Amino acid sequence: MNKTLIELFAGVGGFRLGFEKNGFETVWANQFEPSKKKQDAYECYIHNFGDSEVHSNEDINKVDEKKIPDHNVIVYGSPCQDYSVAHSNAKGIEGKKGVLFWEVVRLMKEKKPPFMLMENVDRLLKSPSKQRGRDFMVMCKSLNDLGYGLEWRVINAAEYGFPQKRKRIFLFGFHESTNYYKEFVAQDDKLNNGFFSKEFPIESISSKKSVVDIELEDDIVVISDTYQANLHNTGYVIEGRLHSVETIPPKINPVTLGDILEKDVDEKYYLNEDELEAWRYLKGAKSIPRVSKTGHSYTFTEGAIAFPDHLDRPARTMLTSEASKNRSSHVVRDPQTNRLRKITPVEAERINGFPDNWTEGLSDRMRYFCMGNALVVGLVEKMGKALSDIIDKEV
Ligand SMILES: C[S@@+](CC[C@H](N)C(=O)[O-])C[C@H]1O[C@@H](n2cnc3c(N)ncnc32)[C@H](O)[C@@H]1O
Repeated sequence: MNKTLIELFAGVGGFRLGFEKNGFETVWANQFEPSKKKQDAYECYIHNFGDSEVHSNEDINKVDEKKIPDHNVIVYGSPCQDYSVAHSNAKGIEGKKGVLFWEVVRLMKEKKPPFMLMENVDRLLKSPSKQRGRDFMVMCKSLNDLGYGLEWRVINAAEYGFPQKRKRIFLFGFHESTNYYKEFVAQDDKLNNGFFSKEFPIESISSKKSVVDIELEDDIVVISDTYQANLHNTGYVIEGRLHSVETIPPKINPVTLGDILEKDVDEKYYLNEDELEAWRYLKGAKSIPRVSKTGHSYTFTEGAIAFPDHLDRPARTMLTSEASKNRSSHVVRDPQTNRLRKITPVEAERINGFPDNWTEGLSDRMRYFCMGNALVVGLVEKMGKALSDIIDKEV
């Protein structure tokens, strides 16, 4: 089996970077920022990988699945949306309009790649808040119905030696036609012998959270209408049965924000004296009386966060708003000058493990934005390694 790959919702190409380090070849990619004339992420991707014939800048909803080249792996990081389904008139099922996951299902139905890897926010496991776990179970069921076994893990990049506390769920799918599927089904200890376990070892299984074991109903609409569960950070779905436990990673010495700082940083990233008060307020603890839309009075409270950010710890999660004067944006005390400043675009790239100046050519605001959207490259590099080893054993 060859290591051909397609990348959807490609952004600035985090998946591709990590996978190509393990011998994968990207045969098609897609990235489109709806309602934007300037396609920054797409341009950045072309600038770095240089192959516009492979990369499509079309809305995924409009892509003709029959025109996508054959491939053995599909990777994507789609937004977290409402995945509920209903019966359609034609006795089929219907998801909400505009939900991008159904576009992935449409493509996978046509192309049936043996392997799939998805990245998403960890909140996906809990959503929607009124029916926890429903969206993820609907997702698993629809992939299971296409013939895929699934394994998932919520990974905090900082816990595996990367300089950012970024918690994301990764879902690995393997088609029932693969050798890997047969091996996985036969495996007694699936948690310690699966896709994630080699590169992301588990220290132990938490006894504080009860094991979840659910038979997924044949009718996905029943799952969508009635199922809820407190799903944990680790699990798998095989032959319609979902199993989930809370696992604990081994203790390691973290890589820190201080480890990745640039030297001789441009003056424009430093905070002005007159901005300091506003920053202190944003980062500080608050207790503010407010009135809701319905006229109900309540007190809005939030605790203080580190100001400046700790240099002896990994960075906090980088958001797309990192460019703005915002409570969640990072502020560091520069070790060279002892003055406060924002992180630079290159530092934002380093926090995600992209090469320096990967997003060069975009405005600073878009450079931070693209990094807030992107993933930690080192994590998917490890996953690319695990998948490369699996594919070597396929025919
Ligand atoms: C979470 S980001 C993925 C980032 C990527 N993994 C990276 O390393 O940069 C999701 C991407 O999906 C893109 N997107 C949103 N709606 C889309 C659509 N309808 N068609 C294609 N891409 C879309 C966004 O522009 C965004 O770049």
